Amino acid sequence: MTTEIRNTIRFLLNDRQVELADVSPVQTMLDFLRIDRNLRGTKEGCAEGDCGACTVLVGRLYDGRLKYESVNGCIRFVASLDGCHVVTVEALAEPNGPLHPVQRAMVDTHASQCGFCTPGFVMSLYGLWMENPRPSVQEIEKALQGNLCRCTGYAAIIRAAQAISSIGEVGKDPLVAEREKIAGQLAALRDGRRVEIGNEADRVVLPASLDDFADVLESNPKATIVAGSTDVGLWVTKFMRDIAPVVHLSHLEELRRISVDDEGITLAAGVSYTEAYTVIVRHLPQLRELWHRIGGEQVRNMGTIGGNIANGSPIGDTPPALIALGASVTLRKGGARRTVPLESFFIEYGRQDRHPGEFVESVHIPFLSGADRFAVYKVSKRLDEDISSVCGAFRVTLDSEGKVADATIAFGGMAGTPKRAANVEAALKGRGWTGAAIEAAVGAFEQDFTPLTDWRASADYRMLVAKNLLRRFYLETQDKGIVRIDRTVAVAV
Ligand code: FAD
Ligand code: FES
Ligand code: FES
Repeated sequence: MTTEIRNTIRFLLNDRQVELADVSPVQTMLDFLRIDRNLRGTKEGCAEGDCGACTVLVGRLYDGRLKYESVNGCIRFVASLDGCHVVTVEALAEPNGPLHPVQRAMVDTHASQCGFCTPGFVMSLYGLWMENPRPSVQEIEKALQGNLCRCTGYAAIIRAAQAISSIGEVGKDPLVAEREKIAGQLAALRDGRRVEIGNEADRVVLPASLDDFADVLESNPKATIVAGSTDVGLWVTKFMRDIAPVVHLSHLEELRRISVDDEGITLAAGVSYTEAYTVIVRHLPQLRELWHRIGGEQVRNMGTIGGNIANGSPIGDTPPALIALGASVTLRKGGARRTVPLESFFIEYGRQDRHPGEFVESVHIPFLSGADRFAVYKVSKRLDEDISSVCGAFRVTLDSEGKVADATIAFGGMAGTPKRAANVEAALKGRGWTGAAIEAAVGAFEQDFTPLTDWRASADYRMLVAKNLLRRFYLETQDKGIVRIDRTVAVAV
C-alpha cells in the first residue's frame, strides 16, 4: 500500500489557519512568530527553555479532547505544530480593546515592571486558569516554575493569579466557550497522511502512524528523532547543529498511550511528564516530588519519558528511579521488537544499546511489592527547574527477619551513565536494615563511582551526597523517631 503524502504543515495560529510548504527542520516556533508573522509579544530571553519569556499555548486533540498546554516557543520546532492550535499573547486582547482577565489581574496587582517576562507569565497563567480557575499558591508556583522574572518579584504575580477569577469568568473565555468549534477545526486538519517537507538535505517527516514511523526510521537510520525537542531544540539554538533529516513523533497518539495492568505501568515513549503525572503519582507516590522538579511546567508539557531515556544523559532524572524500580525498555526497528532491562540500555557516556533505525517504543515500570521500601532524591543547585547534580534512587526489600533480601540502588550524576551502585548493594544484602549496616556499606560507594568535578558539583561533593542520601533513605524508612526531610526543612516526627 502506498502512503499518501502531504507536503505542507497545517495548523491554527490564533484565529487563522496557516499552511506552510517551506519549513526548515530547525525553524523554531519563536522565530516563526516573531520574524515571519511579526507577532512580537512573544519574547526571546534565553533561547533554551529556561526563562519562559517565549511561552505560548499549544492546543492539541488527544482522543478527541482538546487540551491547551504552555510550551517554550524557543525550542519547539514549527514542523511539530501540524494539527495544533497555537495561541499567542496577541490573541488575548484587541490592540485598543479591553484587557483579558489575566492581563487585567497583572496590571491591578502591579505584577509587571520592565515587562519583558510579562507575556510569558500571562500565557502560563492563562493556561493554568483555563484548567483550574481557583488554584492554590502551590499550584500557581508549579505552573510558574518555568517563568523567570528578574525585577518584579513573584509575590505580585501570585496575587495576580489568585485575582483572575474575580475579574473574568473562565466559561466565557473564547478558548473555553468555543472549544468544540476549535476541536472541529483541528479534526478537519487531520487527513491521516504522512507529511514530508524539503529534500534530503533539509527533509522533515511527520509519519502517518506508528508503523509508518518505524518504516521511515528503518529506511532513514541517520535521521534525528524529535519528540518534545527539549533537548534537540538546544542542539539547534545553542550549538547551531544541523539536525536534518528529522522525523517527528509528538503528533503520534499511539506513542502517547499509557497502560496499567497487574504487573505495572507501561508508558509509550512519547508520553510527556505532564501526561504521565497522574498515573505515576497514583501508583508510585514516591516519585511525586521528583516529577515536580523536572524542568518547569512548559518543559514537562513538552518533554517525554522516551526522550529522557534515549538521550542517554548521565544526569537525566527518570533513569535512576526507573532502574531502581526494575524498568525495562522496548526497542523497535521496523516490525521487530526487543525488550532490555533499562540499566543495560546505557552502555557508556554517549553510547546506548540502540541500533541504527531503531527507536524506543515504550518503557515498562513494575509495581513495588509490599516488602519494598523505595525513595528517590534529586539534589540540584536550585530547587526549581534545575538539572540534578546528583540523583539517587533506592529500593530495598526486607525479609521476614528484617534483613535486606534485595537492594537496587541507582544514581545519576555519579558516572558517565545512570549507573547502579553494585558494591553498595552487595554490602547491604543479607545484613539487618540497621544504622551500623548502612555505615558499613557507605564506603563501597568509592568502589562503585569515580564522579567528575564540573560546574554543577565537585567530585567530593557528589561522593558525600551519595553517601548521605543512603543515610537519609535509611532514616526515612524507620518506623519510629525518624527525621523526615521535606525539601529543605527537617522535621522530627
Ligand atoms: P527530544 O529533545 O525530542 O530528544 C532527546 C533525544 O532523544 C534525542 O537524541 C532524540 O533523537 C532522542 N529520542 C527522543 N525520543 C526517542 C525515541 N522514542 N526513540 C529514540 N530516540 C528518541 N531533564 C531532566 O531529566 N530533569 C530536569 O529537571 C530537566 N530540566 C530541563 C529544563 C530545561 C529548561 C530543559 C530545556 C530541559 C530539561 N531537561 C531535564 C532535559 C529534557 O527536558 C529531558 O531530557 C526530556 O525528557 C527530553 O525529552 P524530549 O521528548 O524533549 O526529547
Ligand atoms: Fe527563555 Fe524560551 S526564551 S524559555
Ligand atoms: Fe522585568 Fe519580569 S518585569 S523581568
